[in-house]
Parts: sequence; structure tokens; C-alpha cells
Amino acid sequence: MAAAVERDYGAADYWERRYYAEPPPLDLYLGYEDRACRALVAHMQHRYGAKDRLEYREADCRDLRAFDECAYDLVLDKALFDCVLCGSQNLSGVALMTAEAFRVLKPGGAYVVVSHGAPQTRLGYLERPALDWRVSIVPVQKPRIAAEPQRADDVYYVYVCRKAARAPSEASLY
Ligand SMILES: C[S@@+](CC[C@H](N)C(=O)[O-])C[C@H]1O[C@@H](n2cnc3c(N)ncnc32)[C@H](O)[C@@H]1O
Repeated sequence: MAAAVERDYGAADYWERRYYAEPPPLDLYLGYEDRACRALVAHMQHRYGAKDRLEYREADCRDLRAFDECAYDLVLDKALFDCVLCGSQNLSGVALMTAEAFRVLKPGGAYVVVSHGAPQTRLGYLERPALDWRVSIVPVQKPRIAAEPQRADDVYYVYVCRKAARAPSEASLY
């Protein structure tokens, strides 16, 4: 049991411990690195919060009650959906996180997921009937590793989930 909890990829605490235990860089996708969530959020808020009138907040993606419904144009997820899907209680986790992303989006807004997962392993979760959005898929070639041949199918997938102009009631999401 202890081992499962230590490797709960869908829990921010697991990543906090891992980021501080491992030397940088730990970037799993696309070469954009953002490091430890809690420290990063505090740093960004301190550095840019007042200046650019941006707000940086930490939250569990499965529970965004602190964020208003229909308030945001974009929810950007890089490597988080994959982590929650690999974590403990993964099925309820991805159901909650997609419902929450949907809820906080404005009608016409988009939930954008950068993922390792091919469509046959992701669309079933993203295209639940309760989520009234249309999903389009953009494959992105992985950066080439020197001395290794580039394979055409060596891609990440960017899933763009565009919320319909008229959203269903919140009650039907969960
Ligand atoms: C593989 S890392 C990706 C980090 C970064 N987005 C990147 O691409 O470099 C997974 C991230 O998901 C965050 N995370 C894991 N479970 C979470 C949850 N339930 N709610 C919010 N964030 C979570 C961790 O804090 C960690 O920073």
C-alpha cells in the first residue's frame, strides 16, 4: 500500500517530493519545463502577480470549487491528464478533472491537453456525453534525439476540447 501512495502520479504532493529529490531538469514533454507546482506558483505570483495583473493559484484539478463556473477562455493541461490517469483512483480522477475543466470554461472556451496518449487511450475519457465539447487532435512531432532516426509516428498529441456555446447544467457533469 505504501508504495502505491508514494507513486500517486495524480497527486500534487507526489510531484512536490519528486521535484525536490531529483536534479533538474525533469521535463517529460515538448521541452517546456515548469517544475514544482507549489514553489512555482508562489514564485510567479511574487514576480509577475502585481506587475501584469495576473493571478497564480494552486489547486487540485479534481476540485476547482474555488474557481467560478464559465469564467475562463482556456484551460491548459500539459502532462496532468496523463498523470491523473496513471494515479490512484484514476477513473474517478479523470472524470472529475474533465468535469471541472468543462465547468470553469466559458461557452466556446477550450480545454487543451498535451499528452503522451494516443487517441484510442484518451478519447473515451474526453468524449463523455456529459461533456458538451468537440475534441480535435493535433499530433506534434517529438523533438529529435541526436543519432536516432526520426519516426513519423513518434508524436505527442494535443487534444483541443472546444466547449459548446450552450453548456449543460452543472448537475449532469458529475
Ligand atoms: C509530469 S508533471 C508536469 C509538470 C508540467 N506541466 C510540465 O509539463 O513540465 C505533473 C504535474 O501535475 C501536477 N499534479 C499532479 N496531480 C495533480 C492534481 N491532482 N491537481 C493539480 N496538479 C496535479 C504536479 O504538481 C506536477 O507538477
